[in-house]
Amino acid sequence: MEIIIADSYEQMGVQAATIIRQQLLRKPNSVLGLATGSTPIGTYKELIRLHREEGLDFSQATTFNLDEYLGLPPSHEQSYRYFMDEHLFNHVNIPKGKIHVPYGHAESVLEFCEWYENEITHAGGIDIQILGIGGDGHIAFNEPGSSLGSRTRLKTLTEQTIQDNARFFTSMEEVPKFAITMGVGTILEAKKIILIANGAAKAEIMAEAIEGPITSQVTASALQLHRDVVVIVDKEAGAKLKRADYYRWILEQKKKLVPKLIGYAS
Ligand code: GLP
Repeated sequence: MEIIIADSYEQMGVQAATIIRQQLLRKPNSVLGLATGSTPIGTYKELIRLHREEGLDFSQATTFNLDEYLGLPPSHEQSYRYFMDEHLFNHVNIPKGKIHVPYGHAESVLEFCEWYENEITHAGGIDIQILGIGGDGHIAFNEPGSSLGSRTRLKTLTEQTIQDNARFFTSMEEVPKFAITMGVGTILEAKKIILIANGAAKAEIMAEAIEGPITSQVTASALQLHRDVVVIVDKEAGAKLKRADYYRWILEQKKKLVPKLIGYAS
C-alpha cells in the first residue's frame, strides 16, 4: 500500500484525480470504478476542472459504480445514480451508454447482479477503482461479516449505516435498508485501487483498515491483500495511523529514487 497523507480535503481530491488523469492519458478507454458519498466529491470536482480546463477526455471511458440502494429509481434524489449525474456524469463526456450504476429497481436482483458482474468482465475488468470507507469499515456496501470473496449481490445494511444515511432522508422509514453492491472479491479484482478518507470521524477506522488485522469485520482491511492500492487521507483521517512518519518518509525517499530508476537522475 502506498499511503499519502494530504494537507487538506481539497489536496486529497487533487491527488486522487491526478492518478485517474494519468490512467486516462495512458489508456483512454480505461474502465473506471466509481464511488459515491461525500468523500469523492472533491475528486470529481477536480476531474470536472481537468475536463473543462485541460481537455481531459472521457469519451472512450467506461464506468461502473460500486453500489445502489434497493428500491430507489435513478430519478430519486438520494439514489446513487442521481448523485453521480449531479457530481460527475452531467459535467464530463463519458458516453451515457458506457455508464453503469447498479439498478436499484431491478426486477430480479439475482439476475441483475450476475449481469453486472458479466458486464465488468466483458469490459475487460476495472482498471482503477475509487473507494471511500464507511464508519464501520465497509467498502461499497460490504458491511462487517461480508465474505472477503463476495461478488455483486444484495446486502442488508447495518444499523450504523442506516443511521449514517438517515441525514439524507426526511424520515427513518424512507432510509433504505438494503443495497445492491459489488462484493469485496469484485473490488479486489480491480487492477488499481484508490482508497480515500477525510475527517476525524474516519481516523479510527482508517487505522484499523490499514494497520489492523485483515478481517471480514472491517472489509476495507481486505485491501491489504491487493498489490496496487494507494490510500489518500487528509491529516484528520490520518491522525491515528501509527506509522504515519514512516509513510511520509517512504514518499520522500521515492521522490529521490524514482528519477534514478527511470534513468534521468543527475
Ligand atoms: C456509503 C457508500 C460507500 C461510501 C460510504 C462513506 O456507505 N456505500 O461507498 O464510502 O458511504 O460515505 P462518505 O464518503 O459520505 O463518508
